[in-house]
Amino acid sequence: MNYAAKWSATDVNKVTILRHLKTYGHLLKWKDYKETCLEVGCGEGVMTKEILLPYIEDHIAKLVAVDILDGMIQFAKERNAHEKIDYQIVDILNDQFITTMQSQFDHVFSLFVSHLIPDTRSFLTSFYKILKSGGQIFVITLVNSFFSQVFSELCKEKQLLNSKLESPFADYTANPAQHITELLEDIGFTVDLCEHEKRFVTTENFEGFVTALAEMYQNLEVIPSELLTVFYEEFLQKCREKCINLGEQEKYDIPTEVLLFIATKPS
Ligand SMILES: C[S@@+](CC[C@H](N)C(=O)[O-])C[C@H]1O[C@@H](n2cnc3c(N)ncnc32)[C@H](O)[C@@H]1O
Repeated sequence: MNYAAKWSATDVNKVTILRHLKTYGHLLKWKDYKETCLEVGCGEGVMTKEILLPYIEDHIAKLVAVDILDGMIQFAKERNAHEKIDYQIVDILNDQFITTMQSQFDHVFSLFVSHLIPDTRSFLTSFYKILKSGGQIFVITLVNSFFSQVFSELCKEKQLLNSKLESPFADYTANPAQHITELLEDIGFTVDLCEHEKRFVTTENFEGFVTALAEMYQNLEVIPSELLTVFYEEFLQKCREKCINLGEQEKYDIPTEVLLFIATKPS
């Protein structure tokens, strides 16, 4: 549960999501009825309730918000409940969920989740299957994040790599926009927008941000518990070295590479 409380206090992701919704939200094509939408990887629900919902509320009857971690969903239900949001524990790659929810949703949103899932094709194919014809996805994902670089470096250094940790993050290749565009088209989507953005984002809460990222990361479960405290400390230190301290202790500029894509399942 600790990671949920920590994640609720982070600012980097929320600022970026709001900016992208404001910039590209006009590309969302709404139906003339109140829609049923899905958010995949909703986390602790702050972003869902305070940023995503206000943006889409007029167009929807219900937002199903799912996350694989029960600690996130428990926190979301307790602190970020809303009559239009239905929080559920779901692994989006789960076949049973995909089969049950086939062609159920008008829009699928997923914000800062895709990079955590090595099998991007399966992730996006699940979206395709659960969308109605004419439905759209709106996805924001990190590319080449300092987090994944440090994670891989540290795992190699400590010889923690095994078959599960060898490729813990999505690989969008050297040309992420082209790679994702081709993948989306291959799955059957029509691509409305695929934008690769590089910029610095300022956080006032560097330690909270980085440690929440590490603690919620599923694959850390394979690291022996006696190594975990040291792993977190070194992880934080190495992350600090990749970012720019802005004078105050926890105020940092973080180099971020973000890929935003919006795509439609043809009617
Ligand atoms: C970096 S957090 C982002 C949370 C939220 N979208 C936000 O921007 O504040 C990524 C979230 O994706 C969830 N997640 C990872 N793999 C998932 C999966 N297979 N199915 C559903 N959720 C998943 C994690 O548990 C975590 O809460």
